[in-house]
Amino acid sequence: MKNINASIDIDHVLFRHDIAGSKAHCRMLVATGILTAADGEAILGGLDQVEEEIARGEMAFDPALEDIHMHVESRLRDLIGEAAGRLHTARSRNDQVATDFKLWTRAAIDRLDADLQAFQQALLDRAEEHADTLMPGFTHLQTAQPVTFGHHLMAYYEMIRRDRGRLADCRARLNESPLGSAALAGTSFPIDRHMTAAALGFDRPTANSLDAVSDRDFALEFMAALNLAAMHLSRLAEELVVWTSAGFGFVRLSDSFSTGSSIMPQKRNPDAAELVRAKLGRVNGAYQTLLMVMKGLPLAYSKDMQEDKEPVFDAVEAYTLSLAAMTGMVQDLRVDAAKMAAAAGAGYSTATDLADWLVRGANLPFRDAHHVTGRIVKLAEDRGAALEDLSLADMQAIDARITEDVFSVLSVEASAASRTSFGGTAPRQVRQAIKTARQALTAR
Ligand code: ARG
Repeated sequence: MKNINASIDIDHVLFRHDIAGSKAHCRMLVATGILTAADGEAILGGLDQVEEEIARGEMAFDPALEDIHMHVESRLRDLIGEAAGRLHTARSRNDQVATDFKLWTRAAIDRLDADLQAFQQALLDRAEEHADTLMPGFTHLQTAQPVTFGHHLMAYYEMIRRDRGRLADCRARLNESPLGSAALAGTSFPIDRHMTAAALGFDRPTANSLDAVSDRDFALEFMAALNLAAMHLSRLAEELVVWTSAGFGFVRLSDSFSTGSSIMPQKRNPDAAELVRAKLGRVNGAYQTLLMVMKGLPLAYSKDMQEDKEPVFDAVEAYTLSLAAMTGMVQDLRVDAAKMAAAAGAGYSTATDLADWLVRGANLPFRDAHHVTGRIVKLAEDRGAALEDLSLADMQAIDARITEDVFSVLSVEASAASRTSFGGTAPRQVRQAIKTARQALTAR
């Protein structure tokens, strides 16, 4: 029973939040005349000492004392005696743990938001540096149209922007204080829940005591947002794995983010990227675990809910590490611009530009232009040549309306530079996007 019942191995990390909640509660009990000022002072002084002891690693955790809430109270009793027992007036561990976990989650969101902003900064810096660096854009991982590396990195900037938005939404919704909901029904003591809510930085107290002690939506919503964020990192991680492979050779990870092989001296393995790709599994596991813990629980608190913290703590650690590694990889990676540009021109990536030229320069309907371009690509393929290596006569033999001007759109540079539509890959547009992003980043 002792071992299945205890959560101290996991929830000891909540100690600072637990003590902050207790202090707010204590001050409110004094302000409302429920506790004497003398008891209040003894409790606040004792809580300071308990916090220092735990921070210094001096507290021995004992499964018989179940959780962090009991450990703090028990130590407080050792230190200040009877007054310690008055702290739990008008409170239950049910509203206490909900409050602690919300405070922890809110702090985690704030930390992650700062980390995500640093990652966006890294993406912007590298995107600016590579606003003109050509690379193949892919669909189906088949060469599609030329893009710039800066444009590609800015795609991730946008994903992270949405990730931060989702975390901010989650933070706003979670920021209501459960404290004072007591076990489930509220309390007969004349407490002031608005006071404790404000003291702990909450926007307001929760409106329903049953909901307050049985709600873990905030943690689930956090995990849902983190799943999307981790999925974004895993996609970039996969691209790094592909781009660093010999077949691509687009980028090289720094020594700090690659490892060697114990048997093959030439190897530079992208271990960090592979681990980032894999960590999403843990983050997704946390979401599933918590959802299954909560499924079908009758109101209000059930002990099942003690299983809520371990997966969330694990997921946050996994994601935080992934984000730090990804930020480092992006900051350090070396780009082989020549290889990228060569690949950008391979696979007839400017065929769409030829078709577009036929529409604009020779007034063909796009469907016909597509057909004519297909025949020209086939001819180039048969000769093992690039599109711009065909002669005007070769092309005119397929469609007489083609003129010398067509050669102006067949190069990779011209192709990328021509994509000037809003949000397009033209270096001019990419620089504009970076500028807008920099302004947004400093405005927040
Ligand atoms: N250790 C518990 C948890 O993490 C604290 C709340 C316990 N409440 C109770 N009535 N047993 O959920």
